[in-house]
Amino acid sequence: MASSISTHFFFLITLPTFVIFVFSGYATAQLSPTFYARNCPNFQNIVRNGMNQAVRSDRRMGASILRLFFHDCFVNGCDASILLDDTATFTGEQNAFANRNSARGFEVIDSIKANVEAACSGTVSCADILALAARDGVVLLGGPSWTVSFGRRDARTASQTQANNDIPSPFSDLATLTSNFAAKGLNARDMTALSGAHTIGFAQCFTFRNRIYNATNIDPAFATTRRATCPATGGDSNLAPFDATQNNFDNNYYRALVARRGLLRSDQELFNNGAQDALVRTYSTNPAAFRADFAAAMVKLSNLSPLTGTNGEIRRNCGVVN
Ligand code: HEM
Repeated sequence: MASSISTHFFFLITLPTFVIFVFSGYATAQLSPTFYARNCPNFQNIVRNGMNQAVRSDRRMGASILRLFFHDCFVNGCDASILLDDTATFTGEQNAFANRNSARGFEVIDSIKANVEAACSGTVSCADILALAARDGVVLLGGPSWTVSFGRRDARTASQTQANNDIPSPFSDLATLTSNFAAKGLNARDMTALSGAHTIGFAQCFTFRNRIYNATNIDPAFATTRRATCPATGGDSNLAPFDATQNNFDNNYYRALVARRGLLRSDQELFNNGAQDALVRTYSTNPAAFRADFAAAMVKLSNLSPLTGTNGEIRRNCGVVN
């Protein structure tokens, strides 16, 4: 009898507690593609329409939003920390080296957020909006699609120091880049696939000047072309496309690397007689392999240490903590 009572007690108290514990742990640790299915069913359409409009009026915006998401995720995870504006009393990430006068697209996320708030206020995080907008931008430019999971919450803090330390530099060598990505749980294959994001968008002269004037592992005709709009002094913010088809998400970036026409030093490091040469060659001739690996690596990037459950908040305005 005593044992039957204690068994009952186990089932009445211990088991339910255990079940609640396990399920709440599950709910807080995992993101899900259906997270907003009940509370904001139109969310994905609103984001798609917003990105459609933005990319139609400025094709580069697909690239800019993708980069914004990368710079968000690499600094304390995908928590929309990059979206927090600096104020007199708050220093965020927007003026870190890699972002200052460079990161763009904030107003696109703000406008999508306003539309999402109008449909379901206080429900969808800025971090989730950015994750989905990045995917939609890639798709609009002809790139691969992937399933985005949701449930990220927004940070109440941001760190300029962390941004300066964790976002990779265009002047780095392969070993440094590989360790920057490894620090985020991304292997060299992920890094080489993700760098294929440079199939879209532009870079400013100061980020590749040293390479086009001083490097030896560069196609001389390409260096000459790039020097025409990136003088040895001045013109720091003049733009050059990463590859010849900067509005199309294709595999031309890798073909450029094989031809020693990588724009940044960090780009050409992926094909410079090192461990990534073989993979770059594969992607240069096999667009399907690149698309599949890029999509898989984006899912990994998207899952970097999200705030979930009761951590963080759902920001009302992406630029400001509630
Ligand atoms: C491997 C390390 C990387 C380095 C060193 C790097 C560096 C840079 C630099 C210097 C620029 C030009 C910024 C400017 O001149 O204003 C740039 C642009 C860009 N980056 Fe990266 N990047 C890296 C990886 C990535 C990854 C992983 C992604 C996304 C998955 C990405 C997406 C982009 C995009 C799309 C642009 C063009 C943005 C635009 O036109 O607005 N990059 N990157």
